[in-house]
Amino acid sequence: TKKLVVLVSGQGSNLEAIRAACDTGQIPDTRIAAVISNRPTAPALGRAIEAGIPAVTLDHRAHARRADFDMALQKQIDHYAADFVVLAGFMRQLTPAFVQHYAGRILNIHPSLLPAFPGLHTHARALAQGVFWHGASVHFVTEGLDGGPIIIQAAVAVLPGDDEKSLAARVLAAEHRIYPQALAWLVSGRVRYTAEGTHWREKPQTNVREA
Ligand code: GAR
Repeated sequence: TKKLVVLVSGQGSNLEAIRAACDTGQIPDTRIAAVISNRPTAPALGRAIEAGIPAVTLDHRAHARRADFDMALQKQIDHYAADFVVLAGFMRQLTPAFVQHYAGRILNIHPSLLPAFPGLHTHARALAQGVFWHGASVHFVTEGLDGGPIIIQAAVAVLPGDDEKSLAARVLAAEHRIYPQALAWLVSGRVRYTAEGTHWREKPQTNVREA
């Protein structure tokens, strides 16, 4: 059985989608070994506890330097013997040393069609830019901010009358479909990380997915 450690900062709706996909076997032979939040008040922690998953708070404010926090985080993750580290609404940048330690074993979901709109406030920026298509991306984490090789994307049409809230909600629903799919491919070895980019045993057809 493969073990995931899921890092969160907020609501934990992606965590919930991943947990459900582990339970049903959509992500085969995999369980969530622990959930770690850098924010003590993150609702995601309560979701983990309800599901019987160890929930750990690691407050970044208790660490003077970013590298100290990342070292404490690494200790916790390795304590649970994670095969893969899953960033699910985790709102902290990670140091290069941390990212390199988990190279190929750490994923993130980002609420835009990368490489468009890395960073924060993606929905507001997409609306301000007037894009017709927005969405979400699951990618391997590398040193560059939201810059690692992409595994899956969901495209979401921007509709007349959309505001930040309505657009965010549609993107989030798409996230809940693509994150479990990416993890299923990862744990089964269908996709893996190389420094040159994602390497596929059998690359899925794109442009067949409604979202
Ligand atoms: C999601 O939209 C995720 O893509 C985004 O935060 C939200 C978390 O929701 N992540 C980032 O912006 C990462 N920089 P959740 O806590 O309900 O899964």
